[in-house]
Amino acid sequence: MLPSTSETSSATRQTGGTKLARIVFDEATIARRVRELGRDITAAYPDGDLLVLGLLKGSFIFLSDLVRRIDRPLQVDFLVAASYGEHTVSSGNVRLVYDPETTLEGKHILLVEDIVDTGKTLNKLVALLRARRPTSLEICALLHKHVAEHLELEAKFVGLDAPTLFLVGYGLDHAENFRHLPYIASLT
Ligand code: IMP
Ligand code: MG
Repeated sequence: MLPSTSETSSATRQTGGTKLARIVFDEATIARRVRELGRDITAAYPDGDLLVLGLLKGSFIFLSDLVRRIDRPLQVDFLVAASYGEHTVSSGNVRLVYDPETTLEGKHILLVEDIVDTGKTLNKLVALLRARRPTSLEICALLHKHVAEHLELEAKFVGLDAPTLFLVGYGLDHAENFRHLPYIASLT
């Protein structure tokens, strides 16, 4: 789908002139799925008392839209794991550079991730979070490429099935660029 003329000039300004290959998910599609995910999560936690753990930086826009669609008492905290650097292929080297302040023991944890690709990041994090004995642990991913060979824990909530392309926008970056785009586009 190509942006209209006015969107094209805005898109060109937003990307600093870099041409993105194609808009894969537009704003309306993302907003509709986020609303639906919010409804599903609300139904899945009738008692609330949820700790929504956003994996930074990629989930920051998704998480902020998502929590406003969850109609339950909840708390928000973040994890920062570093992996890709400037590459577009997962290295599998996951480092935790910020650990949540909040105690996880005895809580319902919902780990919010931008995209599941090889699953290496999630596999490391799931092991780490399970060791802290939460009452429950589930994953909500905006995008899922469905290419992971092994997932310690499959995402219970998935927004959109993603093509096996490198995607940017709505939080997703390439070398820290393009996170602010309101849509999701493929880089090549
Ligand atoms: P995984 O460990 O291969 O599953 O990758 C997890 C992380 O890599 C995600 O949280 C993203 O930050 C990043 N990532 C994976 N695929 C993409 C992509 O297509 N675009 C941007 N970032 C990606
Ligand atoms: Mg990233």
